[in-house]
Amino acid sequence: MMPRVLVVIVALCLAAGVAAAQDIAGDTAALLAFRDAVGRRLPWPSSASSSSSPCGWRGVRCDAAAARVVALQLPGASLVGTVPTGTVGNLTALRTLSLRSNALSGEIPADIGNCGELRAVYLHDNRLSGEIPEGIFSLRLLQRLDLSGNRVGGSVSPEFSKLRRLATLYLQNNSFNGTLPGDLDLPNIQLFNVSYNEKLTGAVPDSLAGRIPASAFSGTGLCGGPLTPCTNPSPPSPLPSPPISPPPAVSQHSKSSKLSGGAIAGIAVGGGAALLVALAVIVLLCFKRRRRKDYNDADENASPPVWVTVARTTTEKQSQSETRRSTAASGGGGKKLVFVGGEPEAPYDLETLLHASAEVVGKGWLGTTYRATLDAGVAVAVKRLRDAPIPEREFRDRVAALASLRHVSLAPIRAFFYSRGEKLLVSDFVGAASLSSLLHTNRARLSFTSRARVALAAARGVAFIHRAAASAVSCHGNIKSSNVVVNASHDGAFLTDYGLVQLIAAAGVPLKRVTGYRAPELTEPTREADVYSFGVLMLEMLTGRAPANAVAGMDGVDLPNWVRSVVEEEWTAEVFDAAIADEMGHAGEEMVRMLRLAVECTDQRPERRPAMDDVAARIERIVESAVRNRNADVDDFESVSDS
Ligand SMILES: *[C@@H]1O[C@H](CO)[C@@H](O)[C@H](O)[C@H]1NC(C)=O
Ligand SMILES: *[C@@H]1O[C@H](CO)[C@@H](O)[C@H](O)[C@H]1NC(C)=O
Ligand SMILES: *[C@@H]1O[C@H](CO)[C@@H](O)[C@H](O)[C@H]1NC(C)=O
Ligand SMILES: *[C@@H]1O[C@H](CO)[C@@H](O)[C@H](O)[C@H]1NC(C)=O
Repeated sequence: MMPRVLVVIVALCLAAGVAAAQDIAGDTAALLAFRDAVGRRLPWPSSASSSSSPCGWRGVRCDAAAARVVALQLPGASLVGTVPTGTVGNLTALRTLSLRSNALSGEIPADIGNCGELRAVYLHDNRLSGEIPEGIFSLRLLQRLDLSGNRVGGSVSPEFSKLRRLATLYLQNNSFNGTLPGDLDLPNIQLFNVSYNEKLTGAVPDSLAGRIPASAFSGTGLCGGPLTPCTNPSPPSPLPSPPISPPPAVSQHSKSSKLSGGAIAGIAVGGGAALLVALAVIVLLCFKRRRRKDYNDADENASPPVWVTVARTTTEKQSQSETRRSTAASGGGGKKLVFVGGEPEAPYDLETLLHASAEVVGKGWLGTTYRATLDAGVAVAVKRLRDAPIPEREFRDRVAALASLRHVSLAPIRAFFYSRGEKLLVSDFVGAASLSSLLHTNRARLSFTSRARVALAAARGVAFIHRAAASAVSCHGNIKSSNVVVNASHDGAFLTDYGLVQLIAAAGVPLKRVTGYRAPELTEPTREADVYSFGVLMLEMLTGRAPANAVAGMDGVDLPNWVRSVVEEEWTAEVFDAAIADEMGHAGEEMVRMLRLAVECTDQRPERRPAMDDVAARIERIVESAVRNRNADVDDFESVSDS
């Protein structure tokens, strides 16, 4: 027996010498060498030989044919020491490498450049030192690189510009020195951070100055861009000095050009109907101009809000009061704002709305949402719907049906404006923090219990829509984390954009919804499809991962399939978001119950999915029991600290 195994091993080693790491055996050998060097405590089979398949090992994922290792994900796995060459660097089919939150030291392996398929490299929160190896810059497919929280030094190489797909570059909390390359060109960058590298000096490169907020450069010696202007002469650099960014006047100019003085003057011209037309045109112009700034949903909260105040003009008082009275009246000649379901306490008209300070809070396929602040300080959310040829009567009836849905978890619709080229929906402004931005962009600290409460509020809202079964709206139609607004004071969440997909679909516009949330059978919005999307939303909250195509700049995953691919015993280590994993101690059972529910909701067969009422009831029990456990913990803690 024994000799035969040896023969196999020797044969395989010889084979590996010939075609090293180009097959699964090479990958296995590389993983075993990796384990011997840094991962003695990994729960991988101790007697594994390079002939056994590593595909089921913790943290190792293979492609569908089990022919190559495509992901090595060992966050917080007590890895210690230096990763040698010939280990990770031999996993040449690797797409995802996550070794974050360990105690890795020494340099990043120099042969990482062999892994030409890498999309995501997460090495943050270790003790890595040295410089970034040259090989990194040959990873042409790389989208995310997070080296933050290490001791990596040297300069930030101009070769980063070779990584044309890079969307995330996190280098904060390291020891980088020198200047940032003046001609740094990262066309797809979304998230960039070099803060807390004390020895970085010089100017913020031009290409980053307009797109990246100041906090990404704090704790450094950098200047210009969003920071204080550089004083001349610019700090001397020991490196061959790249051209320093242009004087700050240039970037300031581009900012102040958002709404020119000419446009404001233009608003003050004209009266009556002409005034409204002019206003509409100018507001459209402003919206268009600002659109360039907010390049995606994911950035919603990453940059400080841009406030644009449109100048105030006067108009005849009686037309205002007329507008107020036009509740549900058909448009007639002049187009007016129509209140549905009763006027607000302090009524406003279209003109007031168009004059209000506006800020983009969300943007998607259905249109763009603005927060408009009215005179009394009251904020409303204005949704500018994408253009669709909906007849006015149908639009009015459908909006009236949507507005008749009143529930604590639904952001209430108050008014609409209809004209051929412009359709606005006005609802209460319920907050700017979407669940998507909290989970993916701001990485806000959201405990499991908070997440479960948000899920409960959202589930109740969806269940209400399903029960109400208003003729025009039998389901939400577009459940995703960017349509869930988290509001702490409300202790829960609001759903937005319910029924709007159907509204647009009524005009025959082909639907486009985020693939990661879309039920496999989906042809048109249904309750079962809502349950599927809701299941994906729960998976997103539990795993902290973005569904496919949900967040710009993030390589999302097919969450239902991914979670199903992990056996239940491994959920704790593999599936749950690291940010809530430490709550396993007191809420582990609830977390697993919630995950099981999410898996049920995302069943491929629509008829197997639970009804939304049932989902809400089950989440309610999960929340209750999580809160009970937490209170017990708090009591224990207090009794200990009191004594
Ligand atoms: C990695 O690949 C090289 C050749 O490319 C080979 O010599 C080496 O043995 C491999 N390492 C392991 C641990 O298999
Ligand atoms: C980076 O350093 C700053 C200041 O020392 C600290 O507040 C922050 O938490 C650190 N962040 C990380 C990701 O290590
Ligand atoms: C920058 O860091 C590298 C590596 O740590 C070091 O060799 C170099 O001397 C440093 N340069 C400066 C100007 O400190
Ligand atoms: C950059 O990182 C620092 C330290 O972790 C953090 O405080 C800051 O908010 C980050 N800024 C951005 C824009 O990511």
